[in-house]
Amino acid sequence: MKSKTRIIHHRADEPAPGNRPLVSPIYQSVKFELESLTEVERAWNNESGAYHYSRTANPTVRELETLLAELQGQEACVAVSTGMAAVAATLIALLSQGDHVLICVETYGPTRSLLLKTLARFGVKTTLISMDDHVGIERVLAATPTRLVWFESPTNPALKIADISFIVKAAKGCGALTVIDNTFAGLEAHAGFGIDLFVHSLTKSAAGHGDVMGGAVMGQRALVDKIRTQVIALGPTLDPHAAFLISRGLKTYHIRREAQCRHALVIARFLESDPRVTRVRYPGLASHPGFALAAKQMPDSGSVVTIDLSGTAEQSRLFADSLQLFASVASLASTESLIVPPQLMQPRELPAALRAFADIGPTTARLSIGLEDTDDLIADLTAALGAAFGE
Ligand SMILES: Cc1ncc(COP(=O)(O)O)c(C=O)c1O
Repeated sequence: MKSKTRIIHHRADEPAPGNRPLVSPIYQSVKFELESLTEVERAWNNESGAYHYSRTANPTVRELETLLAELQGQEACVAVSTGMAAVAATLIALLSQGDHVLICVETYGPTRSLLLKTLARFGVKTTLISMDDHVGIERVLAATPTRLVWFESPTNPALKIADISFIVKAAKGCGALTVIDNTFAGLEAHAGFGIDLFVHSLTKSAAGHGDVMGGAVMGQRALVDKIRTQVIALGPTLDPHAAFLISRGLKTYHIRREAQCRHALVIARFLESDPRVTRVRYPGLASHPGFALAAKQMPDSGSVVTIDLSGTAEQSRLFADSLQLFASVASLASTESLIVPPQLMQPRELPAALRAFADIGPTTARLSIGLEDTDDLIADLTAALGAAFGE
C-alpha cells in the first residue's frame, strides 16, 4: 500500500474487552462502517439499532442521552445542539396546523416568540396566560381543545414557581400534553408530577462551564422518538465533541450545583438586608411567594437571584457596569457569576397587556451566582451599589 492510501486507511486496534479507558472516547466520526451491505440496509431502515451516520445517532451523544434520561427519571432522551433546538424540535414534532397551545406568559421569551411569530405562520394557535391565573387556565382549557400546555418553573428571570400539580391535573383533565422547561430547576427536579416532557438547555448547569451549548428533551420513549425523528429531519444534531464536554461537565454537576445554590442563598440574604435593594426574588428565601411550593417541588433553590434596585434604570445600568466579578452577559449557572441588567431583558415581543406578567421592572437585574468566594462577591456587590447610589 502506498503512503497516501496507508495514511487514510490506517486503524489502530481497539483496546481488548476488559481494558476499557476510564473516560469514554469521543466518537468524532460522522460515519460508521458495517460488515455487509445487508447490515447497512438494516441500519438505514432502523432495524438493527446500529450506528451508521451521526446525524441519526452517535455513541458519544447516546452515552450522554442515557445519563440525562436517568437523571430526569425518564425512559428516553434526545440531545440536541442548543436549548432552543430542544424547544423547537419538541414544538414542531408535536404540533400540527390548527393545534392550540396554552403557554404560561412567564416562560422564556424566545419560546414565546417561536410560537407567536414562527409557528403561528403554520397555523398553530397560542394562548398566553399567567401561570398564577388558575381560573383563567381552567377556563381556556375547558373552552378550547388543547394539544400542549407549556410552562417553566422557576421562570426566567422572575423566578416564579408554578403549581405543577395544578397545571398537570388541569392539562390531563382535557387530554393536553404537558411540557416543562426545566432548565432553571435542574436535571433531577419535578420528576414525580406526571409531566410528559422535560426540556433543558444543557448550556447552563448541566455543562456548567460556559464553554459548550446543548439541549435535551426527556420523557416517555414514544414521545421522545417522535421528537428524535424531527431532530433528524431538521438537523440540530449535537456534535460528539460537545456531547463529550457536557458529559464531562456533568461529572461535577452535583458539587457545582450544591455550591452555587448555597452561594445564591448567602447573596440573596445579603441583598435582602440592603435598603437600596427593594426586592430580592430567590425561591430559597422565606419571603419568596413560592417558597413553600418550591421546597415541595424542587431539590434545591437554584443559582439565580433576581433583584430590583430602589433607584432609576440609569442607576441599575451603573450598578451592572460597576461590578467587577459579575460579567454582564447572557446565560446562567456558569462557574463565573453573571448579571443580566433590565436593559437586556425587556419582553419586547409580548403584547403590552401581558408585559406586566413578565414582572421585569426598570431596575430588575438577574444575577447568576458562580463558584467564587461569597465574601468577594458581597464586596463586589457592595462596591457596585455604592457606585450606583453615589456613596
Ligand atoms: C429557560 C431557558 N430555556 C431555554 C433556553 C435556551 O437555551 P440555549 O441558549 O442553550 O439555546 C434558555 C437560555 O437562556 C433558558 O434560560
